[in-house]
Amino acid sequence: MADDPQAIVRHYHEATKHHRHRYAPSLGYLDWATQPHPFRRFEGAPLLELPFSESDGAVAFDAIYDGAAEPRPVGVDTIAGLFYFSMALSAWKQHGGSRWALRVNPSSGNLHPTEAYLVAGVVPGGSEGPAVFHYAPDVHGLERRAELDTPLPEGVMLIVLTSIHWREAWKYGERAYRYCQHDAGHALAAIRLSAGLLGWSVRLLTAASRGDLAALVGVDRDDGGHHHEPEVADMALLLETQRGGPPCPWDGEEIASLVVGRFHGVANRLSEAHHPWPIIDEVERAVNAAARPGGEAPMPGDGELLPCGAIAPPSVTTDAGSLIRRRRSAVAMDGRTGMTAATFFRMLARTLPTAACRPWDVVPWTPRVHLGLFVHRVEGLAPGLYALVRNDEHVDALRASMHENFAWCQVPAAPAWLPCYLLAEMDTRDPARTASCHQDIAADGAFSVGMLAWFDPALNTWGPACYPQLFWETGAIGQVLYLEAEAAGVRATGIGCFFDDAVHEIFGLHGRSFQSLYHFTVGRPVDDTRITTLPAYERADRTGR
Ligand SMILES: Cc1cc2nc3c(=O)[nH]c(=O)nc-3n(C[C@H](O)[C@H](O)[C@H](O)COP(=O)(O)O)c2cc1C
Repeated sequence: MADDPQAIVRHYHEATKHHRHRYAPSLGYLDWATQPHPFRRFEGAPLLELPFSESDGAVAFDAIYDGAAEPRPVGVDTIAGLFYFSMALSAWKQHGGSRWALRVNPSSGNLHPTEAYLVAGVVPGGSEGPAVFHYAPDVHGLERRAELDTPLPEGVMLIVLTSIHWREAWKYGERAYRYCQHDAGHALAAIRLSAGLLGWSVRLLTAASRGDLAALVGVDRDDGGHHHEPEVADMALLLETQRGGPPCPWDGEEIASLVVGRFHGVANRLSEAHHPWPIIDEVERAVNAAARPGGEAPMPGDGELLPCGAIAPPSVTTDAGSLIRRRRSAVAMDGRTGMTAATFFRMLARTLPTAACRPWDVVPWTPRVHLGLFVHRVEGLAPGLYALVRNDEHVDALRASMHENFAWCQVPAAPAWLPCYLLAEMDTRDPARTASCHQDIAADGAFSVGMLAWFDPALNTWGPACYPQLFWETGAIGQVLYLEAEAAGVRATGIGCFFDDAVHEIFGLHGRSFQSLYHFTVGRPVDDTRITTLPAYERADRTGR
């Protein structure tokens, strides 16, 4: 196993499962003395403050999925919009002597391991030539990291997402690598949806090597904070900002040929001291060792699974931008309020991938993640276990892997095109709560979800590099559920803490063909009234934005 990347990844996954009587290894307490600084900054790098472009979000909410906005020209204001609706701060919270920032994208423990880098050509009002920038959410600005000596193709920009594993490992120990990948998936979907508001298309470059990406954005430099808290490249997104011409043929290999000039600034150090978690470095190395991320199997044909237009309208009429920026995790749910079946079906439908419908057009692989549903309070539906099968090709394998006595009866009240099945009628509140590390929030909403990934077969087919991809897909589903919950006037919460094999037992999953990778809950939130909310940016207030 010492050198076999497949074995290392599988070992990591098993070793970081939570069990009812044994959690995955972590410190077991919060070492406040080593708490990471919440923001990565590059000291000495020139800062370009971005404006606040609220107007980019002033469209109907459903336009985030299928709106056909005319592509907006690249400029400081549109790049500002791209980040303002995906990775920016959304509020500050205050309680007692503590104050903490929240962001448009969610993060396990609010620790935010994901950083975003923009690689762009000329940006009118911002940059006279191609350059690499780091997005600094604390100031809503771009730190200019380096000039690029090679031009990018016309109408093309790149976003590189990276992770600082230490941020999550500080609190969660060995399981942290998983959480970093969930967060990257949330960010991936957030960026795809925000680019859509500007009329820009986005594609994940699956052939980009993580080493080339690290060199491009300078996170492979062992200086300053990078020496203390390594930052690794996860993925590259190709943004096309013009329409009409032939699509950019890049698949990611081209990144190796981009020549970067001298880097400006040095990464800040995040913690004074660190606890090592070698298994995280090992799994990262194993994922990197694999040739190319691969998984280029095509999506199901355009609209084959679901014509976007067939989905019921959202319950609220708030514009897309406000809704995206007010996304929040519920910290508790009321244990009473349910939702209508129409709302439930709409939410599920939005998680279904079609090549035509965002954010699913960003990933080039056929779906590998299904929803195991704990339905507690949905009007007209019997409480019980249900399944949403996001890829037809897996329905037989899922059935064969689950309890033999499951009904697999297509839900009669659901639209005929929605692959939603009743498995077993039962009171799902206790099983959901227990499986989600005894968190009441999993039982007190309208429904909760275990995201069941096609696991061993995917690793066998695409190799260890698809391990993070499975989590990215769950994160992207989670991002849609978060926004859908806001659009339904309720709220959602991602749940990274669950007893892996206990979930598998509930569904009868044996073997490792399917593994639960992420949980979610949706319902009526109960707010903590002791917490005060403050604006995300004082600068925006001062400018009267
Ligand atoms: C991957 C992931 C796992 C999470 N796990 C849990 C969890 O187990 N329990 C919980 O109450 N919240 C969980 N959360 C919610 C976070 O605590 C929340 O996103 C964070 O505090 C930031 O708040 P916000 O989502 O309102 O911006 C999770 C979020 C993510 C993205």
